[in-house]
Amino acid sequence: MARLPKKLDQKLQERIASNALRQLQTDSKKVDFASNDYLGMAKDNMVFYEAHKLLTDRGIIQNGSTGSRLLSGNSSLYEETEQYVATYYKADAALIFNSGYDANLGFFSSVPQRTDVVVFDEYIHASMRDGIRMGTARSLKFKHNKLNDLANILQRVRKDSEAEAQCYVVTEAVFSMDGDSPDLRRLMALCKEYQCKLILDEAHAIQGVNDTVYNELIKEITEQVLFARIVTFGKAMGVQGSAILGGNDLKTYLLNFARSFIYTTALPPMTVASILTVIRAIESAEVKERKKRLKENIMIFSREVQHLELHNSFIPSTSSIQSCLVPGNTRVKKIASYLREEGFDVRPILSPTVPESEERLRFCLHSYNTLNEIKEVLSILATAIKSELYAR
Ligand SMILES: Cc1ncc(COP(=O)(O)O)c(C=O)c1O
Repeated sequence: MARLPKKLDQKLQERIASNALRQLQTDSKKVDFASNDYLGMAKDNMVFYEAHKLLTDRGIIQNGSTGSRLLSGNSSLYEETEQYVATYYKADAALIFNSGYDANLGFFSSVPQRTDVVVFDEYIHASMRDGIRMGTARSLKFKHNKLNDLANILQRVRKDSEAEAQCYVVTEAVFSMDGDSPDLRRLMALCKEYQCKLILDEAHAIQGVNDTVYNELIKEITEQVLFARIVTFGKAMGVQGSAILGGNDLKTYLLNFARSFIYTTALPPMTVASILTVIRAIESAEVKERKKRLKENIMIFSREVQHLELHNSFIPSTSSIQSCLVPGNTRVKKIASYLREEGFDVRPILSPTVPESEERLRFCLHSYNTLNEIKEVLSILATAIKSELYAR
């Protein structure tokens, strides 16, 4: 094979020099504080066998979908699943994409138009940033969760945009790197005041765990300002894929114009069956119990952080994502590998994924983490943070 061009090799060397080279790791068999499998659904036997059974019972013996949904890749199973997803999330319609990344790319590159404005939280996920970049609308960012900053921007936007310009406000229900959430009530009021449509990425939100305010507001928000919700099936649902929830007209628009929906092979039947099965299971007594355990683990984790006086290092969060700031790629990597040697899988999040000096250890909490695991990992972390060995 031909060698990597010089410029690309130089970029890799720069990554190595800043200790930020990304590398793949195989299954670690360590205590899981890293995966997005918050409720243990990815390894759930029932979902695995039920999804299989669903296919065989219907005589669907098929490995691949064979094409784009607009060509040969669609099926009644797909449509039934979309209907089920829409009902579960109390939305008018759902359109399934192959991943959350694809959904955001498709949505943001096709919906906002040239004279429109997209105002987004500075910490939104890369998939939304990429979609916005591919689109033609003007875009502006506001400071993370700082709604006064958003209000100032919206005021300016309304003053200097054409009257028919549509303004979209974009944020996440639970931020993937910080684990915190915006003040949805205030956000809704601002969107109403400045006639904006709200787009909410709910990839890390777990219904019944950290969405109380959201559930209270959902009806009100949906009717008034919420235009689209992005939900993903690869995280708490433990499967793969995503859906954009919205009106029937939005669904029709996206399947006509979202290129990441149109120009790709549809999900295989096994994945679609897994999505349907996991959503059917998610309200079962067993999964409700797991949600309860996850909530308890979040509380235990926060209490322990306080007890060990680590709270000044942690970003305040009541979700299953708890981030401990450890500035510097070298230092955060050192502490992560120490935790690894001690048997815990906690991933370092390096710059440039997060801004320089905001490098962090991201703890993902699960229903299946035990009290001892939580206490032990935090005690080891406290020792490491205070130790000279791990200083910059
Ligand atoms: C907020 C957010 N949106 C979208 C995605 C992409 O979802 P998927 O992993 O299904 O592509 C992620 C994944 O990390 C995410 O954190």
